[in-house]
Amino acid sequence: MPTEAKFPQGFLWGAATSAYQIEGAWNEDGKGPSIWDTFSHMPGKIRDGSNGDVACDHYHRWREDVALMKELGLKAYRFSVSWPRVLPQGRGPINPKGLDFYDRLVDALLAAGIEPFLTLYHWDLPQALQDLGGWANRDVAHYFADYAAVLVRRLGDRVRWWATHNEPWVVAWLGHGLGEHAPGLRNLKVALQVAHNLLLSHGLAVDVLRDGGKDARVGIILNLSPIHPASAKPEDVQTAQQVDGFYNRWFLDPLFRGSYPADVWALFATQGLLPHVTPGDMAQMARRVDFLGINYYTRAVVAHDPEAEFGVRYVHVEGSTYTEMGWEVYPQGLYELLVRLHREYKIPALLVTENGAAFPDAFTPEGRVHDANRKDYLRAHFLAAHRALQEGVPLLGYFVWSLLDNFEWAYGYTKRFGLIYVDFPTQRRILKDSALWYQQVIAENAVVS
Ligand code: FCB
Repeated sequence: MPTEAKFPQGFLWGAATSAYQIEGAWNEDGKGPSIWDTFSHMPGKIRDGSNGDVACDHYHRWREDVALMKELGLKAYRFSVSWPRVLPQGRGPINPKGLDFYDRLVDALLAAGIEPFLTLYHWDLPQALQDLGGWANRDVAHYFADYAAVLVRRLGDRVRWWATHNEPWVVAWLGHGLGEHAPGLRNLKVALQVAHNLLLSHGLAVDVLRDGGKDARVGIILNLSPIHPASAKPEDVQTAQQVDGFYNRWFLDPLFRGSYPADVWALFATQGLLPHVTPGDMAQMARRVDFLGINYYTRAVVAHDPEAEFGVRYVHVEGSTYTEMGWEVYPQGLYELLVRLHREYKIPALLVTENGAAFPDAFTPEGRVHDANRKDYLRAHFLAAHRALQEGVPLLGYFVWSLLDNFEWAYGYTKRFGLIYVDFPTQRRILKDSALWYQQVIAENAVVS
């Protein structure tokens, strides 16, 4: 007998992308440069020496891409807006052609019956604002709110779902602490100030979006992972708590409890890393949101190790499967996370805003991509989400990362996450087997076995 995991009516099945990863047209129609243009053009920063100058050429092929979304039956599409395409200097004069691009995209999505889900910031800060100090400069939080106002004024009559930031942890730590992402700084104290300013900018933008959007549903997107100790030894357990604090709670607590987690605050204090907090900031950050978006890929298993960086060793789990990113396949972690967020933080609504896997794909002479591993990955994670739903977790939707193979940041084009294969030299798109399977899941609103 086939069993089926049926999802609630109106469940938002979607796919996600981000501007810099797919658009290309990096210097066309009046767009200003972003920190990712600068960074990717610096030798040695991107693994395959590539950049997002062309990427998936979505800026020119958006019609075709929306048609593919329609063919898949997507209920929603999560994309981000390139801030410097709309405001080349980050503030001040608007670039009308940039704004028009998103306006047309939104109209095409609605005409195809697809709900637009807009992310304001997916990492491509206008270079002009970086020249003023970037996110380390508190003024940029206010420029971000002004940018939000520009978009909601133009699109607020049609776009209902608004996310302020994508993964502020990554922006702060990979961009400013470890230097792996733009702007490439390596300063932990700056990273923490950036994290603070990002959360502040989120809160400022929430107010703006609420004022401007007719029926706006406003939220933020975090990368979250369960952090498990490698053993029951007290030092491993303590390490797991600290990593959870620094990775998950440092963002969740200000947003949903109005304060930084005391244990991590104390730890950062001993290292002289604390951010400067102005009175009123914590209340601004904790503005009510309508949803939290969760980007989930894997868990972390950690052990205490004084020799390792920050005293933390990330442990490889014997017997587990790993994706091409080196990330453990651990669907149970999604269930665990959703239940925890529901119980501990009482968040009104949750969406999985990214989940997916990179595997080394190839297309056959018949033009097929047999990515059974990706299908299995998605299936197991959909079922984990379904279990959470059955326990009363208010999960409203699920976006697969990604619609298209694309520019995977510091990895360049070496990692393919798409449901749709992109042959970059020709820009040909091919629906992978996982996409055809997903099409069926959406049509039936169920995972059938
Ligand atoms: C997330 C990013 C997204 C993509 C996936 C693989 O951290 O938000 O842009 O790179 O990872």
